[in-house]
Amino acid sequence: MSNVMQAARIHQYGDSNVVQIESIPVPQPKHDEVLVRVRAAGLNPVDWAIRQGYLQAVTSLPLTLGWDLAGEIVEVGSGISDLKVGDEVYAMIQLRGGAFAEYVILKRNEVAKKPATFNFVQAASVPAGALTAWQVLFETANVQAGQKVLIHAAAGGVGAFAVQLAKERQAFVIGTASAANEQYVRELCADQFIDYQTTRFEDVVKDVDVVLDTVGNDTLERSYGVVKKGGIVVSIAGRPTQGAGGPYGIRVLRIEVEPSGEQLTKIAALIDAGKLKTLVSQVFPFADVRQAIEASHAGHGRGKIVVEI
Ligand SMILES: NC(=O)c1ccc[n+]([C@@H]2O[C@H](COP(=O)([O-])OP(=O)(O)OC[C@H]3O[C@@H](n4cnc5c(N)ncnc54)[C@H](OP(=O)(O)O)[C@@H]3O)[C@@H](O)[C@H]2O)c1
Repeated sequence: MSNVMQAARIHQYGDSNVVQIESIPVPQPKHDEVLVRVRAAGLNPVDWAIRQGYLQAVTSLPLTLGWDLAGEIVEVGSGISDLKVGDEVYAMIQLRGGAFAEYVILKRNEVAKKPATFNFVQAASVPAGALTAWQVLFETANVQAGQKVLIHAAAGGVGAFAVQLAKERQAFVIGTASAANEQYVRELCADQFIDYQTTRFEDVVKDVDVVLDTVGNDTLERSYGVVKKGGIVVSIAGRPTQGAGGPYGIRVLRIEVEPSGEQLTKIAALIDAGKLKTLVSQVFPFADVRQAIEASHAGHGRGKIVVEI
């Protein structure tokens, strides 16, 4: 194994031109860390948001972009007994990033064995989307069988997993997307579809228990009125004002996804049981990582974009 690797890095915030593929030393795993040979890395809106400098308060330069990945463990740091060289894993990395590279260091608590039934490209498309949906629906909203759940952007990277996880909990699921994505959202087993471009969801939906807001702005604010008393709106995209739910008798929260190998292990079990699917809409070679980030930024029709490394 060479001691240098290729990595997609930024030394300043800005547009596509700030992303450079560079040779840098392969990092060494410390206590409670593993070194992973990255085979595929998934794209998320956070890639371009960080590149652009929107998260300067919590990131520092230079940094290697990329937060979702699948690959093989090539070195195990001290203190880890349940993972070994050769294990095929997948992960979402904490905000330090580093997935758009040939090798990456992962903390023990970020890593899970990859789903056996998924290849590296499919596995790399899962972590952030599925973890966000899991943490919103199961940890924050505690969705129960029979509850009505409204998922905005049901064809998106988070929304598609959210539809499937809510159905897994036997909720009644309503998904919004444009008409082009209706069939896809219905294939995910949503019970009701709303074309947000032709129908205001608040005209056709009421008495919802849980809303997952992936859009923010007025989609977030218009959601309050469709929730029944005691219900909850969880936003991952908007910034609800303090006390916004008070007049409606509902809770309104914003959450930030956290890495979790433990939850990814449960998600892998659902995948291997055939209960959770992924849709990889585009695969780019590593040399075209800039274009992959641009494609993600442009907003795609459905599913996930992945870079093969
Ligand atoms: N807080 C957190 O921890 C966290 C975690 C993950 C993601 N996020 C944020 O959550 C948002 C969604 O992430 P993502 O990965 O799901 O993004 P994504 O995959 O890029 O979402 C694209 C989808 O959004 C849909 N869409 C756009 N405007 C819509 C609207 N007004 N109503 C309904 N659907 C609409 C599009 O559907 P059509 O093509 O049919 O229009 C498309 O399928 C992003 O802003 C991201 O930054 C936050």
